[in-house]
Amino acid sequence: MSSWKDKRKIMQRYDLTADMYEERYAKEQKAKYGVALENVDVADGKVLDVGCGSGLFFSEVAVQAGLVVGVDVSSKLLLKAKKQAKCFGNVFVLQADADHLPFQVGFFNFVFSFTVLQNMPKPAETLDEFKRVTKLEGKVVVTGLKKAFSLNTFMDVLEGSGLKMVSFIDRESLNCYVAVLTK
Ligand SMILES: C[S@@+](CC[C@H](N)C(=O)[O-])C[C@H]1O[C@@H](n2cnc3c(N)ncnc32)[C@H](O)[C@@H]1O
Repeated sequence: MSSWKDKRKIMQRYDLTADMYEERYAKEQKAKYGVALENVDVADGKVLDVGCGSGLFFSEVAVQAGLVVGVDVSSKLLLKAKKQAKCFGNVFVLQADADHLPFQVGFFNFVFSFTVLQNMPKPAETLDEFKRVTKLEGKVVVTGLKKAFSLNTFMDVLEGSGLKMVSFIDRESLNCYVAVLTK
């Protein structure tokens, strides 16, 4: 199957489950945000949230960051993210594929992507795209779902990205690894 067909299937799956997303996943996602933000200070920076879903992460960063942009492929989840974005003056959302981000080289200080890489046909290429839109010395924070990636597989993906590891958190209470990388 082509990667576009795979991606369309994933998009449809998230569209179908959008109404129950937060009820099901908010608690576990927020725990990941907490760990990420213990390791990264987004003060005044430009933040990209790739695969932003319903926009749960926005309220965690909007106050400190200068600008927050959320992108996702699911239009149903994006509708929810848009509502969330309206609570802040510096948060914007748009529909885009993580492998083809509509931003210039080095535009963002911080790129976050929580529980998204398991959906991507070639996670190493996706990371390469995150790297492209990140400023030199900016940070890329990604999580790897443990049921989709063994520790070794996830490490291989990270190492293949050419990004430098700043910290790696493997907490038993989380269903994801959390990696902080720099360009
Ligand atoms: C498990 S959810 C995580 C959502 C959000 N990051 C959070 O913390 O709640 C995965 C998200 O990735 C999005 N996604 C899947 N494939 C994508 C792609 N190719 N480009 C952008 N977003 C994608 C889905 O629509 C969904 O919102």
